[in-house]
Amino acid sequence: MEKILITKILTILFILKTVLVIGQTQNIKMKGVQLSCTINPSGQFNYQLKFNNKPVLLNSNIGFELSKPNVLLNRFDLIKIDTNYFDQTWAPIWGEQDSIRNHYKELVYHLRDKSASKIEVNLIFRVFEDGIGFRYAFPKQKGLDYFIVQNELTSFHLGKDHTAFWIPGDFDTNEYLYNTTKLSEVDAVKAAAKEKDIAVTALVNDHTIQSPLMLKTDDGLYINIHEAALLNYPAMHLNLNKRSFELSTLLVPDAVGNKAYLHAGDVTPWRTILVSDKATEIIASKTILNLNEPHSLKQTEWIKPQKFMGVWWEMHINKADWKLSTGKHGASTENVKKYIDFASAHKFDGLLVEGWNEGWEDWFGNWKEDVFDFVTPYKDYNIHELSAYAKNKGIKLIMHHETSGAVTNYERWMDSAYRFMVAHNMNTVKTGYVGKIIPRGEHHDGQWMVNHYTRVAKKTSAYQIMVAAHEPVHPTGLHRTFPNWLANEAARGAEFNNAPALGVPPEHNTILPFTRLIGGPMDYTPGLFHFDLNQFDATRTQKVLSTLTKQLALYLIMYSPIQMAADLPENYEAHMDAFQFIKNVPVNWSSTKVIEAEPGEYITIARREKNGKNWYLGSITDEKARQLVLKLDFLEKGVSYLARIYRDGPVASYDKNQTDYIIEEKIVNSNTLFNIPIAKGGGTAIEFIYRAN
Ligand code: NOJ
Ligand code: CA
Repeated sequence: MEKILITKILTILFILKTVLVIGQTQNIKMKGVQLSCTINPSGQFNYQLKFNNKPVLLNSNIGFELSKPNVLLNRFDLIKIDTNYFDQTWAPIWGEQDSIRNHYKELVYHLRDKSASKIEVNLIFRVFEDGIGFRYAFPKQKGLDYFIVQNELTSFHLGKDHTAFWIPGDFDTNEYLYNTTKLSEVDAVKAAAKEKDIAVTALVNDHTIQSPLMLKTDDGLYINIHEAALLNYPAMHLNLNKRSFELSTLLVPDAVGNKAYLHAGDVTPWRTILVSDKATEIIASKTILNLNEPHSLKQTEWIKPQKFMGVWWEMHINKADWKLSTGKHGASTENVKKYIDFASAHKFDGLLVEGWNEGWEDWFGNWKEDVFDFVTPYKDYNIHELSAYAKNKGIKLIMHHETSGAVTNYERWMDSAYRFMVAHNMNTVKTGYVGKIIPRGEHHDGQWMVNHYTRVAKKTSAYQIMVAAHEPVHPTGLHRTFPNWLANEAARGAEFNNAPALGVPPEHNTILPFTRLIGGPMDYTPGLFHFDLNQFDATRTQKVLSTLTKQLALYLIMYSPIQMAADLPENYEAHMDAFQFIKNVPVNWSSTKVIEAEPGEYITIARREKNGKNWYLGSITDEKARQLVLKLDFLEKGVSYLARIYRDGPVASYDKNQTDYIIEEKIVNSNTLFNIPIAKGGGTAIEFIYRAN
């Protein structure tokens, strides 16, 4: 069970006040966040949101189009309104901080369809200090049993032409590069046409974009629109009306065009709007996590944050191959042993091995159902020997389950595959969904697949296995409910440095924490130390567009409880002094301070290690050089720290001299002012080692 630290008793005043004004506009306020809800005489329900009296959302809609029964649910009678107040502080079993406060006022509208159906729907709003969440609940009732959602009518009426950080709406992928434009300039088709390296796409149209959507207003507000607790329902995409600047929900359809199959008693995910006048508070928000249910595991000691290496990047840069038939198989017993030796010598927890199993010869592009069986190693991969070897060296092998999108096949093999892992002393799996989904016609982000990812989280948990999923639906804070589901890719990660068309330009990492990471940890796979990707293949022109010390800073910026050191041992051996930072940086934290942030420009985050006094800091910039001016007031007062600074050298830049870096040490305290130059596309990483006095 989740550990509750503090619960405060509810305030009666709040309840009385709202009950007295039933039937009129209901206003709820938490600090600067003001929600107003109205039902007009025709029965239409609207909600509005303000922050410090500035409009965030104008009158916005709710409702549904159902089929079977065929009902338009958008005019309601009010049955009653309930209110609640909640203030509890809980302890995640891993994360960015020891404790999380879940503090909100709740308003529940019990509504009944005005038309003949008389279907009852409850609309549950929670108002937090940094935004709101709301969801629909269909209570058990006479006259409603199973039903199909054809459309959800929720809208978010921004009303103004804000700056948006967006990716094209696509039912199969979220691996696009972010675009920064005014809402009026969104053109998802044009943006998608520049992409050449995403394996499977199902682009929607020119005006559909994805959540988490980050917005910045001309009057200084930062707004983020997403969803929380996406369970048994398709993902929400957003249709943009470029005249009214209203976003409306587009649910990902299934193979026959339906959106969701529900049953009376079900609830939808929460629709979330985070808002602040400080960009840092959007990154620091725990509202999405708070909107997810606590886990119900009895034992959790087996769930452990971890750092790992992988027989992985060498396949991506063509030193080796996943396939055995090409004669340069990466996952050979001998090569894997070398990696185990290196990972063990440098005290990593795990080693991912891709291409260990039969099936890679024709794994992709055929929409083929029986690809892998997840239990048959290639003949040059001696799993018994390697399991024993790894165990002896204190390394856990990390399993790789590439499904190639043949998910029916994976479902059939899941139990055998997890038993196989347990038998070979493995407790972490990286899953992958590169390919068109089978059941054919389903999408990565539809209800069927959402239920699949959840089944994987539950089933792995029963085997005490941790998961990092690649190519799944966007995360929505479910790591609170399923803490063994450590991380997801679900965005353009470091592997795209190797993508010829667009790669990973420097600003990408300054946008991800405001977008993709709002839903949860990302298996971004940082730590690339070799920047020209023609190292083993002279035909490659791609470059990692980053300085070396920015790669270090990413361990702080791209939060995850499972972090990879993505590069090859020989590339680390060329820079062992800088590699030391990757060895030292923790993956679990007691507290986190987002010091400064601006989407698309820069981010600086400091974190204190779990159960310790040392602090770590990462700071990154976009393609512009910048001066990091930093007050160290997050450090404990009255004590000194040894600051070990890994920073860009004078000629470093993301496109040349990436390995020009300086490592220096200084004695500092909470009064020290730092002034550190960051190169174009660069970054800095700092360890603050507690020295007492
Ligand atoms: C895509 C994943 O993101 C990547 O990490 C993996 O190596 C390939 N699929 C092959 O499974
Ligand atoms: Ca991927």
